[in-house]
Amino acid sequence: MRILFIGDIFGRPGRTIVREKLHEVVEHHTIDLVIANAENAAAGFGLTAPIAEELFELKIDVLTTGNHVWDKKEIIEFFNSANGNANSLARRVLRPANYPVGTPGIGLFEGKTQSGVPYAVINLQGRVFMATNDDPFRKADELLKTVKAKVIFVDFHAEATSEKMALGWYLDGRVTALVGTHTHVPTADERILHQGTAFLTDVGMTGPYDGIIGVEKEHALSRFLTSMPSRFEPAKNEPRFCSVIVECDPMTGRASSIRRLMLE
Ligand SMILES: [Fe+2]
Ligand SMILES: [Fe+2]
Repeated sequence: MRILFIGDIFGRPGRTIVREKLHEVVEHHTIDLVIANAENAAAGFGLTAPIAEELFELKIDVLTTGNHVWDKKEIIEFFNSANGNANSLARRVLRPANYPVGTPGIGLFEGKTQSGVPYAVINLQGRVFMATNDDPFRKADELLKTVKAKVIFVDFHAEATSEKMALGWYLDGRVTALVGTHTHVPTADERILHQGTAFLTDVGMTGPYDGIIGVEKEHALSRFLTSMPSRFEPAKNEPRFCSVIVECDPMTGRASSIRRLMLE
């Protein structure tokens, strides 16, 4: 079984390159499950229901998010629209599971692939150099107690490489794959950990690389040069599709390979 995970889809350039490349990638690599981080899909900041629907129409199965999840207020209504309905499209959009109890949305999706393999997707957020949240390590323990699927994919949305690697080892043998998102910079450390979990510190951004982690250079630079606030505009050029393909045994959930796939 092969799982494709697409890193932070950033604005229109990111959505456009997903539209252009995804079908071919799925066909060529015989992908069974497509997951994508969409926290920046709406002009770089957050996600809306129409954009989530647009991404689902491209045959993405589950969307994860991160610290930008609340940037577009309407996401709250979208989360609430699921209202316990497991078949609602909104249920396929996750926010990090370790947000405080009572926050709209949830961080775990359980489904079946077209060929009937049960799978789970878990979204967590780091706490190092990020806003304070509940403990992602203990939250993962709690969620894994309830999950019945063997194939379990974790998007750990975090800043610090150390925290990502720590959660990777902590969950080794208990999940199929743990990949990082959020920094928008792909890392080259993909590997299978000792107990069979596929790991990569950061998948990287699917969006415009002619900027500073997705934003127009001038705007981001001016913050560094002046320490004054400046309005961020998404960059437009040099789009790249940044993703990772994990192959695993559908019966055990154990990963056999992980490889990065970056397309221009
Ligand atoms: Fe992001
Ligand atoms: Fe983020």
